[in-house]
Amino acid sequence: MKSVFITGGTTGIGAELAKHYVEKGWKVGVCGRDKQKFEESFTHQRESISFYAVDVANRDELKNAIKEFSGLIGLDLLIANAGIGYKFKTKVPDFEFSYKMVHVNLLGVMYAFEAALDVMIPRSKGQLVAVASIAGYNGLPGVSAYSATKSAVQKYCESLHLDLRQFNINVTTINPGFVDTPLTQSNHHPMPFLMDAPKAAKLIARAIEKKKMTYHFPFLFAGVVRFIGILPRTWYRFLFSLKMFNYSKEK
Ligand SMILES: NC(=O)c1ccc[n+]([C@@H]2O[C@H](COP(=O)([O-])OP(=O)(O)OC[C@H]3O[C@@H](n4cnc5c(N)ncnc54)[C@H](OP(=O)(O)O)[C@@H]3O)[C@@H](O)[C@H]2O)c1
Repeated sequence: MKSVFITGGTTGIGAELAKHYVEKGWKVGVCGRDKQKFEESFTHQRESISFYAVDVANRDELKNAIKEFSGLIGLDLLIANAGIGYKFKTKVPDFEFSYKMVHVNLLGVMYAFEAALDVMIPRSKGQLVAVASIAGYNGLPGVSAYSATKSAVQKYCESLHLDLRQFNINVTTINPGFVDTPLTQSNHHPMPFLMDAPKAAKLIARAIEKKKMTYHFPFLFAGVVRFIGILPRTWYRFLFSLKMFNYSKEK
């Protein structure tokens, strides 16, 4: 039986991925801070999933959870998905929340990978996946630390993809566009090509199965975002001075 541990599996993309792997007959473990959210998301398959009430910013707690879950059968797949984003986009960053974002979105991925590698390297097999974002391709206005953490995760995974091949361990970075989850439900701005979470999870699972190094979606939107990233900086600055592309409030 194959096994997967998903961080941030209580709602949204993580929960849909957990459902996908349960349906495929995998042993599934998820973590999150809120057990109630887990119970609300999994009315049917709850017994098939091991839940760990763990904050990914706590290295020891996460390590223990992943070690306990892996037990005797090991760990085939680790998906570092837990993440947080700004509720409001402001010109002056909310520094307290930005620091928290670094702990969760960046260190949380590193802690999860570290714990998974303790299990995978001795067995010379496994796959590490991080859910970054297309917001990591550019420094976007109003979401400085979100863009920064996601960009850091992209580069971190790119390096590890090269380093870990010698241990037969694959590393995949997933960069979603807008997905309809609690994370985006508080957004008041347009969200082009918004996708529902079950569909996003299916696309992500397929990319994982194909052991892609990087996967971004929706294809067209991701292409536009990446093109914007290679524009001359004066054009880039002009584009984001336009109200229709800059959602940060005055403050
Ligand atoms: N939705 C989008 O449009 C979109 C686009 C690009 C990338 N992403 C990325 O996709 C990932 C999943 O996001 P989502 O959209 O599915 O949002 P979501 O529904 O809010 O899910 C976030 C998950 O992360 C968990 N989490 C948050 N902080 C945590 C912490 N400190 N420790 C442990 N678990 C924590 C949450 O569980 P608890 O609250 O129970 O802790 C929840 O299960 C995130 O990394 C996000 O940045 C999302």
